[in-house]
Amino acid sequence: MTKLGILLSGRGSNFLAIAESIRLGHIDAEIALVVSNREDAPGITAAQALGLPTLVLPSQGRKRQEHDEAVVDALRRAGAEWIVLAGYMRLLSPWFVHQFAGRILNIHPSLLPAFPGLDAQKQAFDYGVQFSGCTVHFVDEHLDHGAIILQKSVPVLPTDDEHTLADRILVLEHIAYSEALALVLSGKYRVEGRRVLPL
Ligand code: GRF
Repeated sequence: MTKLGILLSGRGSNFLAIAESIRLGHIDAEIALVVSNREDAPGITAAQALGLPTLVLPSQGRKRQEHDEAVVDALRRAGAEWIVLAGYMRLLSPWFVHQFAGRILNIHPSLLPAFPGLDAQKQAFDYGVQFSGCTVHFVDEHLDHGAIILQKSVPVLPTDDEHTLADRILVLEHIAYSEALALVLSGKYRVEGRRVLPL
């Protein structure tokens, strides 16, 4: 069974949705390690409650690659084969990306390439778009940039504010991330340039 390494910094709702999909047998994988770069991340407490192996490696004040080397070392020791970024609020060094080339996934709460970076839902809301959504993509050296695996869209309603929009996107994030993971772990895809196509 494929071993996953999960990296998170906060709430951990995407991680929990993935853990539930695994429990239900929708994803053929096991979680080998959950790493947080923040001691106070609720996601790490939730992982402990599920009895999963966890590790906190504080990143504040550490050089990017130096911290990444410690994370990668822990992931390798745990046998992680694929890396899932689930609200990991730290840019990976090119070195890290190279260690797991083509095997790192991220989810972003907008329809990329629109609104990369922080507060994507607020960016989209303030811009006045009528549709937004979420994107699961491969991770490359650039922020929120790698090839798109799957997107799901939601309408922005006249009654929305940035928070209700974010809530509606989050519901789809939890579905999209598991679907994308199931696809890549099945190996039934090919990458042509920036396009990820089913086999
Ligand atoms: C999500 O909105 C995700 O798209 C973004 O960070 C947030 C993490 O939320 N990358 P959670 O910690 O998974 O609840």
